[in-house]
Amino acid sequence: MTDEPIAMAVLRGLRASPKALPAALLYDALGSALFEAITELPEYGLTRADLRMIERHAGDVVRALDGPLDVVELGPGGGRKAALFLRAVTARQPRTVFTAVDVSASALHECQRALEQLDGVEVRRVEATYLDGLRRAARVPDARRLVLFLGSNLSNFDRRDALGFLRDVRATLSPGDALLLATDLEKPAERLLPAYDDALGVTAAFNRNLLVRINRECGADFALADFAHEARWNAPERRIEMHLVARRACEVHLRGEVIRFAAGESIWTESSHRFRTDELRAWGDESGFGCAGQWTDAEWPFAHTLLLAR
Ligand code: AVI
Repeated sequence: MTDEPIAMAVLRGLRASPKALPAALLYDALGSALFEAITELPEYGLTRADLRMIERHAGDVVRALDGPLDVVELGPGGGRKAALFLRAVTARQPRTVFTAVDVSASALHECQRALEQLDGVEVRRVEATYLDGLRRAARVPDARRLVLFLGSNLSNFDRRDALGFLRDVRATLSPGDALLLATDLEKPAERLLPAYDDALGVTAAFNRNLLVRINRECGADFALADFAHEARWNAPERRIEMHLVARRACEVHLRGEVIRFAAGESIWTESSHRFRTDELRAWGDESGFGCAGQWTDAEWPFAHTLLLAR
């Protein structure tokens, strides 16, 4: 994103009622580093569950898909999960092409550095959004494509958009190709809320950094002390919402516009949905896949669903 589209997206979001900003804006360089720190927090069980599931079931996933595999990961971050997964793939085939698709050039380089150490793995980078990157990722002749969409990244889509996204992924694939979808499952709000409002305040910093970014990149004058991080559980929608709540009535200036906040008014910055195993299988079915396997983690309810393109 260049400076101008960011300022325009921010203005549109702050003029709206309720005020809301695109969650993608959370991930500038500092926001990405803070997210990596979140994945290490004791309260944030998702990443550890994802890694446990890969350790336990990557072999089952690979066994369910015969023939050579061409692996693409959407949003690989630093490549930690892919490194673990690729162990199961390289145990079966001598050479694997792994394509990392990410909007962040720094994440792609980090991922490449981590994975090119692995024997028999050729790493390719595509700097693009998920779908655009998936379309651009060159196919390996005579191999079955396996797309990894891990980390519960589907959580941050609206439910309707999530189904549309699965359909769009399916449209890039051929029958027999596969999608491994890792998603966080429903769990009690008392367990979930601390994962988004941790004792160290890392998630609060991740959320409030959005205002630092807007000040820096769009020339706004948000006073950080005026906005508090809040995580809310929206039970009917089965999602955590992150908000930045004005501690007092205040004004913010951005590109010649004055944005007014009432005390207690919030900017909605992210939604993180929870899923049920049966709804994931149903969505797979509705988007042109069959379910070839589903595994869950008992310690932190989390699912890996292997979807096979029909
Ligand atoms: C990237 N995504 C799956 C994270 C989540 O849990 O929704 C982003 C995040 N937001 C706050 N903490 C982590």
